[in-house]
Amino acid sequence: MTKETILSYLGDHPWGETLIVLPRVSSTNTYLKELAKNGAPHGTVVIAELQTEGRGRLGRRFESPRGGLYLSVLLRQSPDFRLTPMAAEAVRRAIAASSGLRPQIKWINDLVCGGKKLCGILTELCGDAAVVGIGINCEGTPHEVATSLEAEGCPCDRSRLAAEVIRALSEMTPHWLTDYKRHCLTIGQDVQLIQNDAVRYAHADDMDEDGALLVTLADGTKERIFSGEVSVRGSYGYI
Ligand code: BTN
Repeated sequence: MTKETILSYLGDHPWGETLIVLPRVSSTNTYLKELAKNGAPHGTVVIAELQTEGRGRLGRRFESPRGGLYLSVLLRQSPDFRLTPMAAEAVRRAIAASSGLRPQIKWINDLVCGGKKLCGILTELCGDAAVVGIGINCEGTPHEVATSLEAEGCPCDRSRLAAEVIRALSEMTPHWLTDYKRHCLTIGQDVQLIQNDAVRYAHADDMDEDGALLVTLADGTKERIFSGEVSVRGSYGYI
């Protein structure tokens, strides 16, 4: 995967001009946040073949060996609660277009296949801008919690996938949230809410226009959930 191979799929898309492809980096999000502080423009994309300190949500590590796609984009537009679910829908579309695989979405922004994680997304604010980081497992054997495009029988050219992800991120719109909800496996299920180490049980009723999960707790109280870990209750393992 090189800048040239990605551009061969991306054509003359404006974000191609500032695309950076690195053999290795600590974290594409960390690297891009530094560029953002030095004035990098909207649509700057950083891609790496591997990350030595890949970061996930809730302060977790994100294992990033060679064979995955690790991509971050800088968005200089007014902060929007909906960015994270819109990005999940963008990546879902890009994966479907380039590999044929039809992943589902685990609220708020993991893509899963057969109950295992295929992709994680980390959105971070940087001043007025946002950095959206995406990690997709392209190759590798599945294990307890993770799978890959290859393991699901849909291997694909990572340069093509990168180009599709870039294009979809540049076209994101709140109208996509209807499709997000159609593919979200969390909505309509009994779920476990884990926030600050406290576990509660609820039913996930819907997602509102801000991307918040609307739940009914065991005592009948309704709540809007913006963060934390939400897992489908009773299902074994990750989802
Ligand atoms: C999660 O699953 O908790 C989110 C994982 C996000 C991983 C991506 S890989 C590219 C970008 N750089 C990082 O350090 N993290 C994100």
